[in-house]
Amino acid sequence: MYAEITGWGKCAPPAILTNDDLATFLDTSDEWIYTRTGIKRRHISHVPCSEMARVGSEHAIACAGIDPTELDLVILGTTTPDQFIPNSASTVINAIGASNAAGFDVNSACTSFLYSLNIATDMIKAGSIKTALVIGVEKTTRLLDWGKRESAVLFGDGGGAVVLQATQEPLGLLGAKLSLVPHTREMLSMPEFGVDLSHQQQHDFYPSLTFEGQEIFKNAVKGMHEACKDALTKTGLTQDDIDFFVPHQANVRIIKTLAKRMAFDMDNVMVCVNEYGNCSAGTIPLSLCDALEAGRIKPGMTLLTASFGAGLTCGAGVIKWGERTTPIATSEAKLPPCNQTAIEILQPAIDAAKEKYGE
Ligand code: UT7
Repeated sequence: MYAEITGWGKCAPPAILTNDDLATFLDTSDEWIYTRTGIKRRHISHVPCSEMARVGSEHAIACAGIDPTELDLVILGTTTPDQFIPNSASTVINAIGASNAAGFDVNSACTSFLYSLNIATDMIKAGSIKTALVIGVEKTTRLLDWGKRESAVLFGDGGGAVVLQATQEPLGLLGAKLSLVPHTREMLSMPEFGVDLSHQQQHDFYPSLTFEGQEIFKNAVKGMHEACKDALTKTGLTQDDIDFFVPHQANVRIIKTLAKRMAFDMDNVMVCVNEYGNCSAGTIPLSLCDALEAGRIKPGMTLLTASFGAGLTCGAGVIKWGERTTPIATSEAKLPPCNQTAIEILQPAIDAAKEKYGE
């Protein structure tokens, strides 16, 4: 048994924050951000994570041509759920009417979508479920410290979802390698976030991100490269068998370094970090949707995907695409209207950062 990807859908919130917008309150510039990261702009959400997940999911379900009651399982891959208890998959399940689905959240940071895809695929392969919805969506900008330019300029909000359906054909995620780089968890962390039960503290919440950019960069390239090689070995393929590469979108320099190590031509590599920034668990579903919309994923292609994130978690997977690259049906799902600019949405958090750093 295999688990074909039969539906896909995305949600990119409408408010846009450009690099020039960031330079109005941070000591940064469009030139620095673009040359160091490839990012031009990012979308800022005016709604919680589950609302973006609902929109992406409804598009994916329509695309697959199924009824939401056919879903046996919904996995929400995210680091930014609306709440921790109960999980946010349950919010999505109620919103989309997936009344027969079990649901849980997965948090492995930016790799949450890939980890979730692997879990759902293996459950379908094992025969315990037939149809699953796998979501990767983030509201990363809720977690940023808007006084720290080294991390504040990198992230954005959004994501998407895919529908998996059981099939006898060798399609979908054929093999994957999930990993974690030991002793790197402090490099990208949020020590003050949420309720730390070990200290019994709660905060009025404007968080501070610990972020060692260069160390993350090095470990990301190494970790993803190893995971890619392992995923290829597991599936009995080599890099020459890969038609299109869909990497995590954190920094175009990371993508290019990895592509070079894998000997991939950049023409066959998806890059959309310029448009969205790093949407953490949202980057791979956004990339898949944009690649399909642009006609870059063609029937029967063999894809490689790779991701890394806080933990540091890593992963890669080989995906065999089916015959269909267009939706069976479309959905009218959209977010509620947004009547604020990106800066207006973020203003309370920007003000809190100014107060914190005494500006
Ligand atoms: O999904 C996981 C998320 N994590 C990542 O994606 C992080 C991976 N790492 C990176 O993408 C890169 O390391 C960064 C983009 C974060 C930084 O690029 P870099 O080429 O490693 O720059 P750097 O940290 O070496 O900083 C160079 C200079 C420093 O100034 P000095 O010491 O040379 O005077 C920084 O203070 O750039 C300065 N700088 C900035 N300048 C303008 C750092 N951030 C900024 C900024 N604007 N936003």
